[in-house]
Amino acid sequence: MVGGAPEPGLLRFLTCGSVDDGKSTLIGRLLYDAGLVPEDQLAALAGDRGNQGGDALDLALLLDGLEAEREQGITIDVAYRFFETASRTFIVADCPGHEQYTRNMVTGASTAELAVVLVDARKGILPQTRRHSFIAALLGIRNFVLAVNKMDLVGFDERRFAAIDSAYREFAARFEPASLVAIPLCAREGDNVARPGRRMAWHRGPTLLGHLETIEIARQAARPFRMPVQRVSRGGDGFRGLQGSIAAGSVQPGDAVVDAGSGRRATVARIVTGDGDRALAQDGDAVTLVLAEPIDVSRGDVLAAAAAPPEVADQFAAHLVWLGDAPLFSGRTYLFKIAAATVPGSVTEIRHRIDVNTFEPIAARQLESNEVAVVNLSLARPVPFEPYAVDRRLGGFIVIDPLSNATVGAGMIDFALWRSRTVGWQKLSIDKRARAELKQQRPAVVWFTGLSGAGKSTIADLVEQKLWALGRHTALLDGDNVRHGLNRDLGFTEADRVENIRRAAEAAKLGVEAGLIVLASFISPYRADRRTARALLEPGEFIEVFVDTPLEECENRDPKGLYRRARAGDIRHFTGVDAPYEPPEAPEIHLVTTDAPPAALADRVVAYLRRHGVV
Ligand code: ADX
Repeated sequence: MVGGAPEPGLLRFLTCGSVDDGKSTLIGRLLYDAGLVPEDQLAALAGDRGNQGGDALDLALLLDGLEAEREQGITIDVAYRFFETASRTFIVADCPGHEQYTRNMVTGASTAELAVVLVDARKGILPQTRRHSFIAALLGIRNFVLAVNKMDLVGFDERRFAAIDSAYREFAARFEPASLVAIPLCAREGDNVARPGRRMAWHRGPTLLGHLETIEIARQAARPFRMPVQRVSRGGDGFRGLQGSIAAGSVQPGDAVVDAGSGRRATVARIVTGDGDRALAQDGDAVTLVLAEPIDVSRGDVLAAAAAPPEVADQFAAHLVWLGDAPLFSGRTYLFKIAAATVPGSVTEIRHRIDVNTFEPIAARQLESNEVAVVNLSLARPVPFEPYAVDRRLGGFIVIDPLSNATVGAGMIDFALWRSRTVGWQKLSIDKRARAELKQQRPAVVWFTGLSGAGKSTIADLVEQKLWALGRHTALLDGDNVRHGLNRDLGFTEADRVENIRRAAEAAKLGVEAGLIVLASFISPYRADRRTARALLEPGEFIEVFVDTPLEECENRDPKGLYRRARAGDIRHFTGVDAPYEPPEAPEIHLVTTDAPPAALADRVVAYLRRHGVV
């Protein structure tokens, strides 16, 4: 750079806005005016699709062309574009603007340092503008550009621009941006993109490119070394390397490091890269570390500076952006991917939802797609972490649906809950095995699922009688009965059923720990929740019995008269009528009740338990 000013370095930014705000045109214009569009593409474009050349080129078409090349055969939600001017290098994440694309917005924002928020001068600030700005701020972006586009369509009216600017400032003040610059634009013709717009001589500020080229981003001060381990590589000669990309700080051979989860210490012996060994590696570098001592480290662990390791916890307060098509319910199990680790866990409490327009807290029992909330999380095991405000890599997480493998949420850890530091596990002298031996049985949960009136309770009762006759120790949890006590505060909404099954499964687990064979009879209509129940137990301990009776047959039997009342509209959310039932895909036992009488079906269950060494 001229004049000896410090090199501004790489700038990662994000563009967001509603559909039709002219985002593609703006990026196309930026590349075009910065002289970054190759001649042949320009020519092709001019000759193509009725374009006449010069300023009238449809720059959005140009971008579509680049996109198509880039995305052949790959589905990426966010298009990352890399470009360079004389003074700076840029990576821009272009996030589609539809409401359903919040997911892309989250992906793009998690690495960006600045957001260009595009609005249409005719429309002004829309809910989408606020939502995207809020999510960008939530994801740690501190620098904002309000790009007021299509100024030509409001006659380059300075007052219109000023009104939008002040409305946005009032909104943005609540997330305290480090910088906020508003720029009036006509992206289609280039005014104030890379060169000042003569038609808006009243604008005193910079052009968009000028601002992007010069803005100084406060970089994080040197932090202690952290590296999530992505892979452990082994060579034939006893070589064992820990691969990952450095999330913070730097590392040198000889440094003392610690496996943050276990507290085991070691010394870095070598830093290996594709180009040979290195004497130093830092933030952002992808490396393979070889340790002098062979400590046990695996994928998902975090190596850290021994002098300043990160905290380890299993319960957190966090902000969560829900992206799933199905709502989030507290108590349901998901997979949480934090740094390189993937751990099962659940939201234990939705503290409150946040209105993205007013920032007001709103009480919520569940979260719909695109909603943002403050939640408590509980993971199946402790993980090393840092608050998101300190480290995006160790403080950010995504939520994965274990059934579909889809990403259904993205979150930011605020802090660890005290209870995760103060509630430990009490060691018991008499364990499950000892209790079971005394009873001469293998403890298990036999979980009956099916529609109301399918015959679950009848068969479970018969099975219990048969086990009792064999001198076995059992307990029986029945949906109707448990709902009079432990679960008397719950109804039949999806959120309540999730909690009903969670508590029932925990109660069943306590029974197993006492050495019992627990018979549990619940409609348990959702696969996800039966899966959660299964996951609480050891392999082989959860035996799912599908009591399969066609709906018509259940309605015919209607032992409690509930179907009739549901059809009459007297009972709402009735399973099979106006609430779903998801049949098991691979139950251990499948009983078709129209094939045999209940006693014969109960015998089949007992036979299974014998074959599998339960009784
Ligand atoms: S679950 O869906 O949450 O697993 P659970 O097995 O505990 O249900 O309770 C089901 C019993 O509650 C049914 O057998 C029926 O007697 C009664 N019930 C009352 N309202 C409903 C409803 N809306 N849907 C299903 N069952 C209901």
